[in-house]
Amino acid sequence: MAELTLPKNSRVVAGTTHKAPAGSTNVKSFQVYRWNPDEGGNPHTDTYEIDLDQCGPMVLDALIKIKNEIDPTLTFRRSCREGICGSCAMNIDGTNTLACLKPIESVQDAVKINPLPHMAVVKDLIPDLTQAYAQYTSIEPWLQADSPVPPDAERLQSIEERAELDGLWECILCFCCSTSCPSYWWNGDRFLGPAVLMAAYRWIVDSRDENAGKRLDALEDPFKLYRCHTIMNCTQTCPKGLNPAQAIGKIKQRMIERRG
Ligand code: SF4
Ligand code: F3S
Ligand code: FES
Repeated sequence: MAELTLPKNSRVVAGTTHKAPAGSTNVKSFQVYRWNPDEGGNPHTDTYEIDLDQCGPMVLDALIKIKNEIDPTLTFRRSCREGICGSCAMNIDGTNTLACLKPIESVQDAVKINPLPHMAVVKDLIPDLTQAYAQYTSIEPWLQADSPVPPDAERLQSIEERAELDGLWECILCFCCSTSCPSYWWNGDRFLGPAVLMAAYRWIVDSRDENAGKRLDALEDPFKLYRCHTIMNCTQTCPKGLNPAQAIGKIKQRMIERRG
């Protein structure tokens, strides 16, 4: 398989411009990052002019139109087109977000579309999430309890206990937050990043889970947790309106409390 990372010292150069059909009256330009590992060389920016009167309202609609009607080589991830699967995460107009939730009309001038920042690129708009998923696996994101399940009932929670999970369970693991975090850019091999740390807190705070102590032990590390310097980009960028910085703060608070 071809090398996944971009060539060292690569710079993005101008690419091809695909003009809108003659007679189009509502034209918008989309400047899209392109890199093909099989071709190598520098990445480039291709420009696609689209008649918005012939396109759906979201940036993902434009990308699908480009792929279907103009350039089938353009590569990106998408599935649900309604902000649930997290697969269409990318950098649009300088902000990490979901292409399916980003209205085209919210962007003035040309729409600049790049892959999530500071990740190796597999192709075009597809970042390599191998490490991020391995970090997610490392926090063991499943319920852990040694006490037996009641024979005629589920593991129950009070309304208050269940409410502790609100603002956490809604995470779709798009990694917009982690790839907006400077600490994750520089130490992504050892710092778990906001997406994974919020997932860890989701299990720490779950009243049914009996391994909160073990989970905190696993995070007691100079890099995994404490490379968060409260920069807050993560919360600012989350397209689901979640607050991973707050979840990280609560983990740190628990660390302090258990030291007494
Ligand atoms: Fe995406 Fe928000 Fe979850 Fe981060 S916290 S992975 S930005 S949904
Ligand atoms: Fe990064 Fe968010 Fe902490 S941006 S440094 S994880 S508050
Ligand atoms: Fe699923 Fe955008 S396509 S979140």
